[in-house]
Amino acid sequence: MPTRHYTPFDQLLMQMDKAVRTVFGAPPVTERPNPAQALPEAELSAADQRLVTGLMRVNHAGEVSAQALYQGQALTARLSEVRGKMERAAMEENDHLAWCERRLKELDSHTSVLNPLWYGGSFAIGAVAGLAGDKWSLGFVVETERQVVTHLQEHLERLPAQDHKSRAILQQMKEDEAQHATTALNAGGSELPEPVKQLMRLTSKLMTATAYYV
Ligand SMILES: [Fe+2]
Ligand SMILES: [Fe+2]
Repeated sequence: MPTRHYTPFDQLLMQMDKAVRTVFGAPPVTERPNPAQALPEAELSAADQRLVTGLMRVNHAGEVSAQALYQGQALTARLSEVRGKMERAAMEENDHLAWCERRLKELDSHTSVLNPLWYGGSFAIGAVAGLAGDKWSLGFVVETERQVVTHLQEHLERLPAQDHKSRAILQQMKEDEAQHATTALNAGGSELPEPVKQLMRLTSKLMTATAYYV
């Protein structure tokens, strides 16, 4: 089958479509069921409810960013194989996005109003990482996913014990992110320099500190 050639304008329109779906709509998900689906709703105090919605809003914003990073990289990554792998991972991030959003709705809360900002910033970072070449681009995925695993572990420890629904979602996300890191490492990702890792940690701190409230 001949490969379709897209003009830069086609590409731009496709990227805009993905961005709008991620931030405002329902992006395409995998066939996997929501891990929280069959679990009972927890009795939460007002304080616990605020804690859980804050944490889930941070996780949702994180998934918006992850999605944008992958799309930015897919735009500029050179090897088609790398591009394919990243698009698959991006679809799994959509599952995470949908599960977090659903959970926020169940708890009568909302996603971060700053999501368009997280998307735009992360898309630009992803596109730059893609330009740096495949081993760095994949190394960037490895490091991003590792940092997300650490952060999810912290959230799992902070969740109220009785909130099995949120726990099941974060647990599955943690497993997926670890898998994404391994895939990117096996595909040839390089270890990033420490200052880059630190900058990434700082950026995500800024986002998590803000998205908890808005
Ligand atoms: Fe994710
Ligand atoms: Fe991931």
